[in-house]
Amino acid sequence: MINLNVNIDHVATVRQARGGTEPDPVTAALNAEIAGATGIVCHLREDRRHVNDRDVRVLRDTIQTKLDLEMAANEEIIKIALDVKPDMVTIVPENRNELTTEGGLDVAKNIDKMKRLTDRMHERNIYVSLFIEPDEAQIEASLIAGVDMVELHTGKYANLNTPEDIRIEYNHIARASDFAFKAGLEVAAGHGLNYYNTQMICRISSIKELSIGHSIISRSIYCGIDRAVRDMIALMNTYSM
Ligand code: PXP
Repeated sequence: MINLNVNIDHVATVRQARGGTEPDPVTAALNAEIAGATGIVCHLREDRRHVNDRDVRVLRDTIQTKLDLEMAANEEIIKIALDVKPDMVTIVPENRNELTTEGGLDVAKNIDKMKRLTDRMHERNIYVSLFIEPDEAQIEASLIAGVDMVELHTGKYANLNTPEDIRIEYNHIARASDFAFKAGLEVAAGHGLNYYNTQMICRISSIKELSIGHSIISRSIYCGIDRAVRDMIALMNTYSM
Protein backbone atom coordinates (compact mmCIF):
# COMPACT_ATOMS: atom_id res chain seq x y z
CA MET A 1 0.00 0.00 0.00
CA ILE A 2 1.28 3.45 -0.90
CA ASN A 3 0.84 6.55 1.30
CA LEU A 4 -0.66 9.86 0.22
CA ASN A 5 0.71 13.15 1.50
CA VAL A 6 -1.48 16.07 0.47
CA ASN A 7 0.10 19.41 -0.41
CA ILE A 8 -2.12 22.31 0.68
CA ASP A 9 -0.14 25.21 -0.87
CA HIS A 10 -2.89 25.92 -3.37
CA VAL A 11 -5.43 26.57 -0.64
CA ALA A 12 -3.09 29.26 0.65
CA THR A 13 -2.73 30.61 -2.89
CA VAL A 14 -6.49 31.27 -3.02
CA ARG A 15 -6.37 32.95 0.40
CA GLN A 16 -3.50 35.17 -0.73
CA ALA A 17 -5.53 36.29 -3.76
CA ARG A 18 -7.49 38.49 -1.34
CA GLY A 19 -4.95 38.74 1.43
CA GLY A 20 -7.48 37.66 4.06
CA THR A 21 -7.98 34.60 6.21
CA GLU A 22 -10.01 32.27 4.00
CA PRO A 23 -9.75 29.61 2.81
CA ASP A 24 -7.47 28.47 5.61
CA PRO A 25 -4.89 25.84 4.56
CA VAL A 26 -4.94 24.49 8.11
CA THR A 27 -8.66 23.63 7.85
CA ALA A 28 -7.93 22.00 4.49
CA ALA A 29 -5.12 19.97 6.06
CA LEU A 30 -7.34 18.73 8.87
CA ASN A 31 -10.01 17.71 6.36
CA ALA A 32 -7.40 15.90 4.26
CA GLU A 33 -6.30 13.98 7.35
CA ILE A 34 -9.87 13.01 8.19
CA ALA A 35 -10.21 11.70 4.63
CA GLY A 36 -7.18 9.46 5.11
CA ALA A 37 -4.11 11.45 4.05
CA THR A 38 -1.02 10.06 5.77
CA GLY A 39 0.74 13.40 5.77
CA ILE A 40 0.43 17.09 4.98
CA VAL A 41 2.92 18.92 2.80
CA CYS A 42 3.45 22.67 2.57
CA HIS A 43 6.16 24.70 0.89
CA LEU A 44 7.36 27.73 2.80
CA ARG A 45 8.85 29.79 0.02
CA GLU A 46 11.34 32.55 0.48
CA ASP A 47 8.81 35.01 -0.99
CA ARG A 48 5.90 33.59 1.11
CA ARG A 49 3.71 33.63 -1.97
CA HIS A 50 1.25 31.11 -0.50
CA VAL A 51 2.00 29.33 2.79
CA ASN A 52 3.30 31.65 5.51
CA ASP A 53 5.10 31.27 8.82
CA ARG A 54 1.84 31.21 10.80
CA ASP A 55 0.51 28.35 8.65
CA VAL A 56 3.58 26.22 9.31
CA ARG A 57 3.40 26.81 13.07
CA VAL A 58 -0.35 26.16 13.32
CA LEU A 59 -0.01 23.05 11.13
CA ARG A 60 2.73 21.83 13.47
CA ASP A 61 0.40 22.28 16.44
CA THR A 62 -2.71 20.77 14.89
CA ILE A 63 -2.14 18.00 12.38
CA GLN A 64 -1.83 14.51 13.76
CA THR A 65 -0.21 12.65 10.88
CA LYS A 66 3.09 13.85 9.45
CA LEU A 67 4.12 17.39 8.56
CA ASP A 68 6.45 17.55 5.57
CA LEU A 69 7.90 21.03 5.14
CA GLU A 70 9.08 21.62 1.60
CA MET A 71 11.82 24.19 1.52
CA ALA A 72 14.88 25.50 -0.28
CA ALA A 73 18.29 25.11 1.33
CA ASN A 74 18.09 28.71 2.44
CA GLU A 75 19.43 29.75 5.84
CA GLU A 76 16.36 31.75 6.89
CA ILE A 77 14.02 28.83 6.14
CA ILE A 78 16.45 26.28 7.63
CA LYS A 79 16.32 28.19 10.94
CA ILE A 80 12.52 28.17 10.87
CA ALA A 81 12.49 24.42 10.21
CA LEU A 82 14.93 23.72 13.05
CA ASP A 83 12.70 25.77 15.36
CA VAL A 84 9.27 24.45 14.23
CA LYS A 85 10.47 20.84 13.92
CA PRO A 86 8.30 19.37 11.15
CA ASP A 87 8.42 15.57 11.03
CA MET A 88 10.33 15.84 7.79
CA VAL A 89 11.72 18.35 5.33
CA THR A 90 11.81 17.93 1.59
CA ILE A 91 14.57 20.05 0.11
CA VAL A 92 13.73 21.52 -3.29
CA PRO A 93 15.42 23.99 -5.63
CA GLU A 94 13.65 27.33 -5.60
CA ASN A 95 13.57 30.04 -8.20
CA ARG A 96 11.63 33.25 -7.63
CA ASN A 97 10.31 33.41 -11.20
CA GLU A 98 8.94 29.86 -11.38
CA LEU A 99 5.22 29.05 -11.17
CA THR A 100 6.01 25.83 -9.31
CA THR A 101 9.12 23.78 -8.50
CA GLU A 102 10.65 23.20 -11.90
CA GLY A 103 13.33 20.58 -11.57
CA GLY A 104 15.15 18.35 -9.12
CA LEU A 105 18.09 19.37 -6.95
CA ASP A 106 21.60 18.97 -8.27
CA VAL A 107 22.77 17.00 -5.23
CA ALA A 108 25.84 15.71 -7.05
CA LYS A 109 27.21 19.27 -7.30
CA ASN A 110 26.21 20.17 -3.72
CA ILE A 111 26.98 17.07 -1.67
CA ASP A 112 28.75 18.91 1.17
CA LYS A 113 25.99 21.52 1.45
CA MET A 114 23.30 18.83 1.52
CA LYS A 115 25.25 16.78 4.05
CA ARG A 116 25.63 19.77 6.40
CA LEU A 117 21.93 20.54 6.09
CA THR A 118 21.02 16.88 6.70
CA ASP A 119 23.24 16.70 9.77
CA ARG A 120 21.59 19.83 11.22
CA MET A 121 18.11 18.41 10.63
CA HIS A 122 19.05 15.02 12.06
CA GLU A 123 20.32 16.71 15.24
CA ARG A 124 16.72 17.88 15.71
CA ASN A 125 15.31 14.45 14.74
CA ILE A 126 13.90 15.83 11.50
CA TYR A 127 13.77 13.30 8.68
CA VAL A 128 15.28 14.52 5.38
CA SER A 129 14.14 13.96 1.81
CA LEU A 130 15.70 15.46 -1.34
CA PHE A 131 13.61 16.21 -4.43
CA ILE A 132 15.63 14.87 -7.36
CA GLU A 133 15.33 13.79 -10.96
CA PRO A 134 15.05 10.01 -11.44
CA ASP A 135 18.79 9.73 -12.00
CA GLU A 136 21.27 7.26 -10.45
CA ALA A 137 24.04 9.87 -10.03
CA GLN A 138 21.69 12.04 -7.96
CA ILE A 139 20.64 9.03 -5.89
CA GLU A 140 24.26 8.08 -5.20
CA ALA A 141 24.99 11.69 -4.18
CA SER A 142 21.94 11.66 -1.88
CA LEU A 143 23.26 8.52 -0.20
CA ILE A 144 26.60 10.21 0.43
CA ALA A 145 24.76 13.22 1.85
CA GLY A 146 23.17 10.86 4.37
CA VAL A 147 19.51 11.62 3.69
CA ASP A 148 16.65 9.30 4.62
CA MET A 149 14.54 9.58 1.50
CA VAL A 150 14.52 10.83 -2.06
CA GLU A 151 11.43 12.18 -3.78
CA LEU A 152 11.56 11.44 -7.49
CA HIS A 153 10.35 14.23 -9.74
CA THR A 154 7.41 13.03 -11.84
CA GLY A 155 6.81 16.37 -13.55
CA LYS A 156 8.35 15.34 -16.85
CA TYR A 157 6.35 12.07 -16.88
CA ALA A 158 3.17 14.06 -16.15
CA ASN A 159 3.74 16.55 -18.95
CA LEU A 160 4.64 14.19 -21.80
CA ASN A 161 2.05 13.44 -24.46
CA THR A 162 2.90 10.42 -26.55
CA PRO A 163 2.57 6.90 -25.10
CA GLU A 164 6.14 6.09 -26.16
CA ASP A 165 7.65 9.15 -24.43
CA ILE A 166 5.55 8.47 -21.33
CA ARG A 167 6.71 4.84 -21.26
CA ILE A 168 10.38 5.84 -21.51
CA GLU A 169 10.12 8.37 -18.67
CA TYR A 170 8.07 5.95 -16.60
CA ASN A 171 10.83 3.35 -16.95
CA HIS A 172 13.37 5.94 -15.77
CA ILE A 173 11.28 6.55 -12.66
CA ALA A 174 10.74 2.83 -11.98
CA ARG A 175 14.43 2.02 -12.40
CA ALA A 176 15.57 4.96 -10.27
CA SER A 177 13.07 4.07 -7.56
CA ASP A 178 14.22 0.45 -7.39
CA PHE A 179 17.86 1.58 -7.39
CA ALA A 180 17.29 4.00 -4.49
CA PHE A 181 15.25 1.46 -2.54
CA LYS A 182 17.87 -1.26 -2.93
CA ALA A 183 20.55 1.21 -1.82
CA GLY A 184 18.62 1.70 1.43
CA LEU A 185 16.72 4.93 0.82
CA GLU A 186 13.00 5.39 1.22
CA VAL A 187 11.37 6.60 -1.97
CA ALA A 188 8.63 9.13 -2.60
CA ALA A 189 7.43 10.61 -5.88
CA GLY A 190 5.52 13.69 -6.84
CA HIS A 191 4.76 16.63 -9.07
CA GLY A 192 2.03 16.81 -11.66
CA LEU A 193 0.34 13.60 -10.49
CA ASN A 194 -3.40 13.52 -11.04
CA TYR A 195 -6.41 11.17 -11.23
CA TYR A 196 -5.28 9.88 -14.64
CA ASN A 197 -1.51 9.45 -14.45
CA THR A 198 -1.04 8.28 -10.85
CA GLN A 199 -2.21 4.71 -11.52
CA MET A 200 1.01 3.69 -13.27
CA ILE A 201 3.21 5.29 -10.62
CA CYS A 202 1.40 3.28 -7.92
CA ARG A 203 2.51 0.08 -9.62
CA ILE A 204 6.15 0.81 -8.69
CA SER A 205 6.32 -1.17 -5.46
CA SER A 206 9.52 0.51 -4.21
CA ILE A 207 7.69 3.86 -3.90
CA LYS A 208 6.47 4.39 -0.36
CA GLU A 209 4.54 7.63 -0.71
CA LEU A 210 3.23 10.22 -3.12
CA SER A 211 3.11 13.98 -2.62
CA ILE A 212 0.15 15.43 -4.51
CA GLY A 213 -1.30 18.94 -4.40
CA HIS A 214 -2.69 20.67 -7.45
CA SER A 215 -4.96 17.94 -8.79
CA ILE A 216 -6.52 17.19 -5.40
CA ILE A 217 -7.11 20.84 -4.48
CA SER A 218 -8.50 21.48 -7.99
CA ARG A 219 -10.97 18.60 -7.68
CA SER A 220 -11.93 19.75 -4.20
CA ILE A 221 -13.41 22.93 -5.71
CA TYR A 222 -16.11 20.75 -7.25
CA CYS A 223 -16.62 18.06 -4.65
CA GLY A 224 -14.88 19.07 -1.43
CA ILE A 225 -11.54 18.05 0.03
CA ASP A 226 -12.89 14.96 1.74
CA ARG A 227 -14.15 13.43 -1.49
CA ALA A 228 -11.13 14.55 -3.52
CA VAL A 229 -8.70 12.92 -1.08
CA ARG A 230 -10.79 9.75 -0.71
CA ASP A 231 -11.00 9.38 -4.52
CA MET A 232 -7.22 9.63 -4.83
CA ILE A 233 -6.64 7.12 -2.03
CA ALA A 234 -9.14 4.68 -3.57
CA LEU A 235 -7.37 4.95 -6.90
CA MET A 236 -3.97 4.45 -5.29
CA ASN A 237 -5.16 1.41 -3.35
CA THR A 238 -6.65 -0.13 -6.47
CA TYR A 239 -3.45 0.16 -8.48
CA SER A 240 -0.68 -0.31 -5.91
CA MET A 241 0.69 -3.78 -5.36
N1 PXP B 1 6.57 17.41 -4.63
C1 PXP B 1 7.31 18.55 -4.67
C2 PXP B 1 8.73 18.48 -4.24
C3 PXP B 1 6.74 19.78 -5.08
O1 PXP B 1 7.50 20.89 -5.12
C4 PXP B 1 5.38 19.81 -5.41
C5 PXP B 1 4.75 21.12 -5.80
O2 PXP B 1 4.66 21.94 -4.69
C6 PXP B 1 4.65 18.62 -5.35
C7 PXP B 1 5.27 17.43 -4.98
C8 PXP B 1 3.20 18.57 -5.67
O3 PXP B 1 3.03 18.85 -7.03
P1 PXP B 1 1.56 19.03 -7.60
O4 PXP B 1 1.00 20.25 -6.95
O5 PXP B 1 1.77 19.17 -9.07
O6 PXP B 1 0.79 17.80 -7.22
